[in-house]
Amino acid sequence: MLSIKVAASINRQIEVEHHSSQIYLAMASWAETNGYEESSKFLYAHAEEERMHMLKFFHYVNDRGSHALVPKTEQPKVIYDSIKEIFEEILEHEIYVSLSINHLVGVCVDERDFTTQNFLQWFVTEQIEEESLFRSILDKLNLLGDDKASLFMFEKEIASIATSKSVLKTV
Ligand SMILES: [Fe+2]
Ligand SMILES: [Fe+2]
Repeated sequence: MLSIKVAASINRQIEVEHHSSQIYLAMASWAETNGYEESSKFLYAHAEEERMHMLKFFHYVNDRGSHALVPKTEQPKVIYDSIKEIFEEILEHEIYVSLSINHLVGVCVDERDFTTQNFLQWFVTEQIEEESLFRSILDKLNLLGDDKASLFMFEKEIASIATSKSVLKTV
């Protein structure tokens, strides 16, 4: 069974992953209604990924004899100024999530819960990938600029990133 402290910390992380999913969903909806079709597909898919992260934690907590709790829903920001603002905020958010996972690992070390620490390694690696993915997307966006032709090019880039990423995920 998980210690009270570890179970509470994972339930807190469940909230973070749930909120991440909601943030991506709100961003996808903004993108879809503002002409960014490919970005919106990418963001909808990412909202699903965050939900999968949340469920991974759910099953882990319950499998270990504790109780995973459904978090309360808080409305994320729904209006954005630009697609660039979206990707800037995503990178900032993913850095915050990485810190949150690191904090969780710290709790497991303090509690000498090496099983959970081992389970968390998947998330540690995932966060490295997420940060690097969004850094590269933001670099592309900065390189291209934000006139209409560049944003059209960016949409093509996002479509190819989404394809290569789904190929990697299924390997
Ligand atoms: Fe996540
Ligand atoms: Fe993420």
